[in-house]
Amino acid sequence: MRARAEIRSFSHRGEGAGVVVGAGSDLSGITVFVPGTVPGDLVEIQVLEKKRNYARGKLLEVLREGPGRTQEVCPVAARCGGCSWQHLRYDLQLYWKETILREALHRIGKSPECEVKAAVPSPKVLGYRNKVEVPLQVRQGKVVAGFYEPYSHRVVPSEECPLEHPLARELVAALLAQVRKRGYSIYDEKTGKGHVRHIVARIAPGTGERMGMLVSTTVRLPGALELAKEVMESVQGVKSMVLNVNREMTNVILGNQWKLLAGRWYVEDVMSVAGAGSLRFRIGPGSFYQVNSEQAATLYKIALDACEISSADVVYDVYSGIGTMTLFASKKARFCVGIEEAERSVMDAKVNARLNGVDNVAFVAGKAERVLPSVLARFGRPSVVLLDPPRAGLAEDVIPVIVRSSPRTIVYVSCNPSTLCRDVARFKELGYLPEWAIPVDMFPMTPHVESVVKLKRSS
Ligand SMILES: C[S@@+](CC[C@H](N)C(=O)[O-])C[C@H]1O[C@@H](n2cnc3c(N)ncnc32)[C@H](O)[C@@H]1O
Repeated sequence: MRARAEIRSFSHRGEGAGVVVGAGSDLSGITVFVPGTVPGDLVEIQVLEKKRNYARGKLLEVLREGPGRTQEVCPVAARCGGCSWQHLRYDLQLYWKETILREALHRIGKSPECEVKAAVPSPKVLGYRNKVEVPLQVRQGKVVAGFYEPYSHRVVPSEECPLEHPLARELVAALLAQVRKRGYSIYDEKTGKGHVRHIVARIAPGTGERMGMLVSTTVRLPGALELAKEVMESVQGVKSMVLNVNREMTNVILGNQWKLLAGRWYVEDVMSVAGAGSLRFRIGPGSFYQVNSEQAATLYKIALDACEISSADVVYDVYSGIGTMTLFASKKARFCVGIEEAERSVMDAKVNARLNGVDNVAFVAGKAERVLPSVLARFGRPSVVLLDPPRAGLAEDVIPVIVRSSPRTIVYVSCNPSTLCRDVARFKELGYLPEWAIPVDMFPMTPHVESVVKLKRSS
């Protein structure tokens, strides 16, 4: 069924949200979500799904353009699920990220009084991604690489992506050429057959070092050592070539088994945070590292300034990854403790502490919800807690344990406004009030929102 819709805002997933208009339509007045639209658009849609209170539609034609609509830079932007806001002017991307955060704080965080500061723009709106994960598929007998269509696992073949760091593509292209040359079989999600699943390139923007990775269902990929040597010889700055083995029938890209093919296990990066100096970081193949490095430096500055660390403070950095924020915080604090589930990241963090001559830190491996009580018993109560969990937010048990330890300030960094605000509401019930929130745009051209919230203990 076709219908006409007027778009008025965005859903939390970044789809245009509007209403069906036109007296002739059975759906007139119903809320409709249409990817690829912007507020102010009048559009012709194909109704794909009709529920009791809302519908979902596919954009057929823009009849009247909303004021924020702009030309996409990527030829496959309309078909690729990677960056679904390329058609929205950048100043309005920032405005809507602020709005999404404000609404989540109001509705989920039960904190309409919390000040939302203006979103911080990214220094680069294109070419910022330092890690690129490219799925492979076979089309008409040819191996193609690209990105998935929205809400699907069908690859849109694409030779390059405007979001990726300029150093990434040459490495992806060299790895793809090797996969084709060596005739490797490509993994088929439906049957579970075939070997190579993904090509991954990781760039350390501060040093220009690069890491290449193949994700395969087998550790015995014939000729993989030779492949790695050839890639290192042909692409400048490649310091590490790694094979990751993932045999699971899952959407998760990386498995748990690793093999070093050539070079070293890590790339090294340098990051400078205003007011906190420069640090070197070793980053292993499976470790988390913020994908927009330049904006990460700003994110860290905002989070660290919010902590107002003095030389008497003990700071807990919970979900600490390779120790980035922990080590920057250690420059001002008496002592810092990083807590991180991934053991390889903790190993990187310990090396990073040594590399930077930092000795007032400790890193503990384990799930925060499990190890926090013993960490408190060992290191004492923190004056400041930094939180930076994955999208799922905090495990329920974490919040009361932190509240009982009574830090004066909690600074919560999050890439998911819904879980952030759910957790803010719980902290508020237990006496920690959100003072302000700020979106820091880590992911231009996408609706993803990274935010920092400062919570203070009520007196
Ligand atoms: C968003 S990253 C933040 C890392 C770091 N703060 C940074 O900026 O690079 C979240 C980290 O939490 C870790 N993690 C996930 N679940 C965890 C848990 N239950 N307990 C502790 N760490 C966890 C992940 O391995 C990842 O390194």
